[in-house]
Amino acid sequence: MARVLVTRRLPFPALDRLAAAHDVTVWEDDLPPSPERLRELVADAEGLLCLLTDRVDAALLDAAPRLRAIAVYAVGTDNVDHAAARARGIPVGNTPGVLTDATADLAFALILAAARRLAEGERAVRAGAWRTWEPAGWLGLELRGATLGIVGAGRIGRAVARRAEGFGMEVVTSRPAPLEELLERSDVVSLHVPLTDATRHLIDAAALARMKPGAILVNTARGGVVDQRAVAQALRDGRLGAAALDVTDPEPLPPDDPLLDAPNLLVVPHIGSATHATRARMADMAVDNLLAALAGEPMPHPA
Ligand code: DGY
Repeated sequence: MARVLVTRRLPFPALDRLAAAHDVTVWEDDLPPSPERLRELVADAEGLLCLLTDRVDAALLDAAPRLRAIAVYAVGTDNVDHAAARARGIPVGNTPGVLTDATADLAFALILAAARRLAEGERAVRAGAWRTWEPAGWLGLELRGATLGIVGAGRIGRAVARRAEGFGMEVVTSRPAPLEELLERSDVVSLHVPLTDATRHLIDAAALARMKPGAILVNTARGGVVDQRAVAQALRDGRLGAAALDVTDPEPLPPDDPLLDAPNLLVVPHIGSATHATRARMADMAVDNLLAALAGEPMPHPA
């Protein structure tokens, strides 16, 4: 029986399997532990089931001398210093595949919402600012015939492409099309790359300047992939038609973040994978990863 730290309550059946096999401690707060508290909590842990809100860096690993397995409850593992884990021989697992459809659905919901100005319209109705049906009121982008540029043609990007084809959109992907060409051709640009040194601020002021005037930017990947100051400026200048973001940097944005005042911004609280079924399957995979590694076997879903 190994000591396992789970950094948040995961109310799914998979946790019972973990608790049946190991001595599990769950961080019970609604908010993540601070880095200092996390370092204390991992001191005697052999297994760690962590969330994207936990930074697993060299300092944390130094504080966890007995750690033998890290299971991240996410597909994106940019919160983990992989080199530091590798150097200590600690395997890292994630939850690929099971959240593809949920995330692609959310990306498409954001595309539709931004294209048809749903958030703005809803606010106007509630504020009593909608006076009558207008022939040229609330006009948006018709998806049929519009071009969707998908940056990152992995599992989720391809799932978004399939949905877009159903809506009659033309799809361009960043492989094989060069990013510059994709940005210039697309009416909607949807981001599906992991956050790495190479993709941090991939969508910066220069990239935004290449986009079609009035185009829509959708991000369900990681906040760090876009330069948010540049996005806020492009929205204010009216060059960018709208931005619909499931992810930001940091998360959550402080209430006084200038991005929140930008026009035509729709922002939701990192809910790409947030369906009952997907979050339960993610728990299964994370637990499978831990159980395997703690038994000295390879993780079934290595990151
Ligand atoms: C992930 O898995 O990387 C998502 O961002 C959260 O589920």
